[in-house]
Amino acid sequence: MPLISKCTGSALRNAATSLKAGNLVAFPTETVYGLGADATNAKAVARIYDAKGRPTDHPLIVHISSIDHLDKWAKNIPDYAIKLALNFWPGPMTLILPRTHLAENFITGGQDCVGIRVPAHRVALDLLKEFEVQGGHGVAAPSANRFGKVSPTCVNDVIEELSSFLAFSDLILDGGSSEVGIESTIINCTQSTPVILRPGSITTEMLKKLLGMKIEVFSNNNDIKINTSGLMESHYAPKAKVYIFGSPLVGDGFIALGKIATPKGAIRLISPLNTEEYAKNLYKGLRLADTMKLSRVIVIPPVGKGLAIAINDRLRKCAFKK
Ligand code: TXA
Ligand code: MG
Repeated sequence: MPLISKCTGSALRNAATSLKAGNLVAFPTETVYGLGADATNAKAVARIYDAKGRPTDHPLIVHISSIDHLDKWAKNIPDYAIKLALNFWPGPMTLILPRTHLAENFITGGQDCVGIRVPAHRVALDLLKEFEVQGGHGVAAPSANRFGKVSPTCVNDVIEELSSFLAFSDLILDGGSSEVGIESTIINCTQSTPVILRPGSITTEMLKKLLGMKIEVFSNNNDIKINTSGLMESHYAPKAKVYIFGSPLVGDGFIALGKIATPKGAIRLISPLNTEEYAKNLYKGLRLADTMKLSRVIVIPPVGKGLAIAINDRLRKCAFKK
């Protein structure tokens, strides 16, 4: 599985041709790296599920190069969703919308809605544009990690996660470290009120400010029947046991904002200066714990609204449950 470290125009043309031929291409986005396949090719999409070890009823996000291609995949789009797309795309936001015939059951996990995103990374956008020039409609891409594990934020993470599950005809594109570092905000737009299914760096406050309407946030009490693996109670987890708060023992990993001193004997994994840096480096820190073969990591989460909500969501899901 060749690694493409210089994503020039011709390299991306070849990558798009490879996608069209039914191969998998792992590519960078501003959130995390994705494992891509032609979203209209059932066989290619099945290989994503195999490579990830992911249950097939968990739907995939379709990535497109611009809002101009949205109508191919989604219909009956509410006005508020158009407003969101116009404002936050390209960017770290996925909209769940009623599907057209193009979004088949093998993409939606059999649901009548489809997840769509326009990513903001240059390499991702150029790849998607080239794929569309070659007659493609969209690229299905979950995060490029094994099911339930930590999402990759650089090319070495992708290699570590998936190299033994990809074929020689597949490709991995290097686009540096992901700027945001945690997955996109997912918003269910199939009802009159938008519902945040997975918090991310497009925050509730940003949505409220733009739309001037009520925004709901998914909790297990909501009456929504949507299969989102990010809603599962355990996800995004390293091998090391993650504990939120608590006092580290000697030799435990430690993750907290840089201003919080490292307790004696603990091994500092990351020292982010603010919440943006915290999100960007969190998965790196969790992976480092596994590389160092630590058995426990103590995490002091950031407090507050905005991005801190998304970080706390991921930490709660990866935290060790007795
Ligand atoms: O930032 C991201 O969103 C990254 C990059 C690669 O774009 N992708 C990503 O994909 O995180 P994945 O598959 O790891 O997580 C996407 C989540 C899953 O929990 C999936 O169940 C949910 O989106 N999802 C996708 N389509 C859906 C649909 N039609 N209805 C409900 N949830 C959906
Ligand atoms: Mg994922």
